[in-house]
Amino acid sequence: MDTILKIQGLKVAYGGIKAVKGIDLEVGKGELVTLIGANGAGKTTTLKAITGTLPPCSLEGIIAYKGESLKTTKSFEMVQRKLAMVPEGRGVFTRMTIEENLLMGAYTRNDKAAIAQDIEKWFTVFPRLKERASQLAGTLSGGEQQMLAMARALMSHPELLLLDEPSMGLSPIMVEKIFEVIRDVHKQGITILLVEQNAKLSLQAADRGYVMDSGAIIMSGNADDMLHDPRVKAAYLGE
Ligand SMILES: Nc1ncnc2c1ncn2[C@@H]1O[C@H](COP(=O)(O)OP(=O)(O)O)[C@@H](O)[C@H]1O
Ligand SMILES: [Mg+2]
Repeated sequence: MDTILKIQGLKVAYGGIKAVKGIDLEVGKGELVTLIGANGAGKTTTLKAITGTLPPCSLEGIIAYKGESLKTTKSFEMVQRKLAMVPEGRGVFTRMTIEENLLMGAYTRNDKAAIAQDIEKWFTVFPRLKERASQLAGTLSGGEQQMLAMARALMSHPELLLLDEPSMGLSPIMVEKIFEVIRDVHKQGITILLVEQNAKLSLQAADRGYVMDSGAIIMSGNADDMLHDPRVKAAYLGE
């Protein structure tokens, strides 16, 4: 496996709260890897450690992206390194229009014609965004904002896309649509690390999975195997 992201012995503590307790996690080029676990397990903390966007905390361990240590990387360098994250709660620029949000995703690019083509492509995938192109992003529904956030992140042409609970708070139809897009983006060759509480849908979409509980990785493996594992079924699939 050609590794794009390798985390070794990652520990993060917020004061006395040990949020991540020494985890190892690896993502291969072209893989869709999912990190599942209940609220408070330490999933968001792990993603923020990768993007260098953690609040004050103590951090130990190694995070290597494309073979280079990320410990001191500033978030603005992430885009140049072709790493993009859609944070929990989406983080669209609510006072900008949909089109402006998409352009922000491409701010490090200068290929104007290709940017316009990309915007058209996303408008085809998400016609709702096209209809509302000049509307403020804050007026969109939660599902539409999630679509915009994903499209914006992909405008930077990332090699690795980090998604933090994209299905949270969405209607079942929107959840289906979002997962359809995630599968599609993966098929196009983009490597994805998907953090989710919806274990079933994410394991169905993923190549491999990790289960996180109270700051530790308690299980990992092939996603299909995990879907049929009695422990996963009982604790995360409600079966
Ligand atoms: N900024 C913070 N300050 C203090 N504790 C935090 C902070 N962010 C998260 N935590 C705590 O760290 C633990 C892991 O949180 P988080 O990474 O957000 O989990 P998850 O994304 O899996 O729900 C939780 O106990 C949470 O309360
Ligand atoms: Mg979280």
